[in-house]
Amino acid sequence: MTKHEKKFETAFTMETSNIKYGPGVTHEVGYDMKKLGSKRVMVVTDPNLTNSKPVSVVLEALQEENIENVLFNRVRVEPTDQSFEDAIKFAIDGKFDGFIGVGGGSSMDTAKVANLYSTYPADFLTYVNAPIGKSQPVPGPLKPMIAIPTTAGTGSETTGVAIFDLEAMHAKTGIAHRALRPVTGIIDPNNIRTVPKIITASCGFDVLCHALESVTALPYHKRPAPENLDMRPAYQSANPISHLWASKAIEMTSKNIVKVVQDVSNDKARAEMILAATFAGIGFGNAKVHLVHGMSYPVSGMVREYIPEGVKSEHPIIPHGMCVVLVSPAVFRFTAQSNPELHLYAAKLMGVDVSSADKKDAGEILATEIIKLMRTIGMPNGISAVGYGSNDIEELVQGTLPQHRVTKLSPRPANAEDLRKLFAESMTLW
Ligand SMILES: [Fe+2]
Repeated sequence: MTKHEKKFETAFTMETSNIKYGPGVTHEVGYDMKKLGSKRVMVVTDPNLTNSKPVSVVLEALQEENIENVLFNRVRVEPTDQSFEDAIKFAIDGKFDGFIGVGGGSSMDTAKVANLYSTYPADFLTYVNAPIGKSQPVPGPLKPMIAIPTTAGTGSETTGVAIFDLEAMHAKTGIAHRALRPVTGIIDPNNIRTVPKIITASCGFDVLCHALESVTALPYHKRPAPENLDMRPAYQSANPISHLWASKAIEMTSKNIVKVVQDVSNDKARAEMILAATFAGIGFGNAKVHLVHGMSYPVSGMVREYIPEGVKSEHPIIPHGMCVVLVSPAVFRFTAQSNPELHLYAAKLMGVDVSSADKKDAGEILATEIIKLMRTIGMPNGISAVGYGSNDIEELVQGTLPQHRVTKLSPRPANAEDLRKLFAESMTLW
C-alpha cells in the first residue's frame, strides 16, 4: 500500500518530558538549567505564589549557579489570551534563553507560550488550535523549559499543551504541539502547598478524568492517518503505552483522592497524588482527553458569578477539574456502549467489583463510582449548582462543537443533539 492509499493511522509514538521526582528536588533546578546551557531565565508564576517557598527555592538555586533570572508573577489563574500576550511581551523584551514555569497548570502553560512566541514570534492565533486558530505547526525546537508543579492536577509538566480562555469567544481553547513540552518536569511533593480543599479536590478529579479519558478514547488506529509526518498530532488517541500509565493513575487517584482532601497533613497520600498526576499526564500527553474535557471548556468559559467556597479570586471561576468532573458521569454513560469492557475495566481500577457486572451497565457503573467520590468529597451537585440552567444548554452546546481537537477523539461521536442531552443530564447528578 502506498502512503497515499493509507486511510487510518498505523503508528504511535511515546513522548514525555524527563521526570525528576523527590522531596526537596526543586533545589536541583539550578544545576539542571545550567546543564541545558541557559544563562538568562524567565521564571513564570502567579501572584499568589510570589513569596512562596517553591518560587524562592527556584530563584535561590538559579543564583547559586550564577544564572541570571527574572521573575514574571503576572500569570492569571485560568489564563486568557490577554494574560498570555502579557507574558509573551515580557519574554520578547527580556531576551531569555531558558524558561521555568512554577505553579499550577496556568503558570506552566504561560511559560510554554512565552517560550513559543518569543522564539518564533507570530500573530497570536497562528499556533492556536483550529478551528479557532490556524493550528500551524511550531517551526522548530524551543528554548529549554523546566516545569515545576505545585498542585497535583494538570500534568502540564509532561505535556505539549497550553490551555487558555479566548475572551472574545468565552471559550477555552489551546495550543498543542510536542515542541511545547518541557524538557524536564520537577515533581517535588514538598511543593504541594496548602490550598483550599475544593481546589485539592478539583485537581484530583482533573487527574482522574485525564486518566479515564485516555483509557477510553478512540483507539489510535481508528484515527485518520496524518497527511504528512509533520501533521501527526502529539495526541494520538488511546494506545498501549498511554493505557499503562493512565491505568495506574486511575488506581492511585482513586485510592488517595479522599485522603488528600480530608487530611492535608497526609504526606504519603499527597506524594502519591502528585505522582498520579504525572502518570496521568504521561498517559493523556500521548493519548489525549475527549468529550469530558471538550464539554468542560464552555462550562468554564461561560462562568458568571461562581467562586468556590474558600477560594480567593478577583474574578468568577469554576476550577477546571470541577468543570470536568461535573460532566463526566453523563459522558461515560454515553460512551460506554462504544467499548463496555474498557469502561468496566476503568471502574474496576477505581475499586468496583465488576466480576458479575453486565456489559450493558458499564456506563452506569462507572458514572455511579465517580458520583460516589464526588459526594464524599463535597463537589457541587451538577452544573446547576455552579450557575447553569436549561436556558444555557444551547450556548454550552455551541461552545463544545468547536472543540474538535478533543471531541473527535471520543470513542462515540456526539452531535449537537447528543450534547444537548449530555448537558441536560449534567444539571443535577444525584
Ligand atoms: Fe484537565
